[in-house]
Amino acid sequence: MTRADLSAAQGQLFDPAEQAGGAALALEDGAVVLRACAVDEAPALLEAIEQVTQAAPLRQMTTARGWRMSVAMSNCGAAGWLSDHSGYRYDAVDPLTGRAWPAMPEVFASLARRAAAAAGFANFEPDACLINQYAPGARLSLHQDRNEQDFDAPIVSVSLGVPASFLWGGSLRSERPRRVRLDHGDIVVWGGPARLNFHGIDPLRDDHHPLTGNLRLNLTFRRALLRR
Ligand code: SIN
Ligand code: FE2
Repeated sequence: MTRADLSAAQGQLFDPAEQAGGAALALEDGAVVLRACAVDEAPALLEAIEQVTQAAPLRQMTTARGWRMSVAMSNCGAAGWLSDHSGYRYDAVDPLTGRAWPAMPEVFASLARRAAAAAGFANFEPDACLINQYAPGARLSLHQDRNEQDFDAPIVSVSLGVPASFLWGGSLRSERPRRVRLDHGDIVVWGGPARLNFHGIDPLRDDHHPLTGNLRLNLTFRRALLRR
């Protein structure tokens, strides 16, 4: 996607008059940070996160090697991302409650669709939303998102609350990542040639945001299951 394509797409889908931010930072071909795109929706997103996590509580999952993750997670949508002694996977059922994950709120899905389109990925229909909650010190080490069945669909990642230092690596783990500050309302979209790039989050600084206190919340939208 060229810069011209990007601004054309943004002009169509995020009316500058309605959009709180608007600047876009191209990370590389297929990857972009849409600055401040979710600022206006943030209170509604946080309210919906509250609803979802009442039904499917945030929890710190364990890796296959037995490490407890520092980020607390939950999910909504048809498929939820899980990590436990048997590894990473998606499941329709929350093992903590024994019930299906809560449905994806429309305010989530519509934001994810618009952000994907603004980044040049038309017709994104996420079926999975991972909710990540970072307290001070919580981090996510460099990884690829590769448990999905469909790599044609992009990843849409919304940042809320305390700013984070996002690690943006290459297609190999050995490539040194660049660090990009993500503020409240920023949305990162990556797909196409960048779909499997390594990424992560540095330990969260002890900071304060008026809407979330000392927390950072992240919504990661994905197409986990193949379209029928
Ligand atoms: C993720 O990689 O699942 C989350 C990234 C983030 O918290 O921004
Ligand atoms: Fe990820």
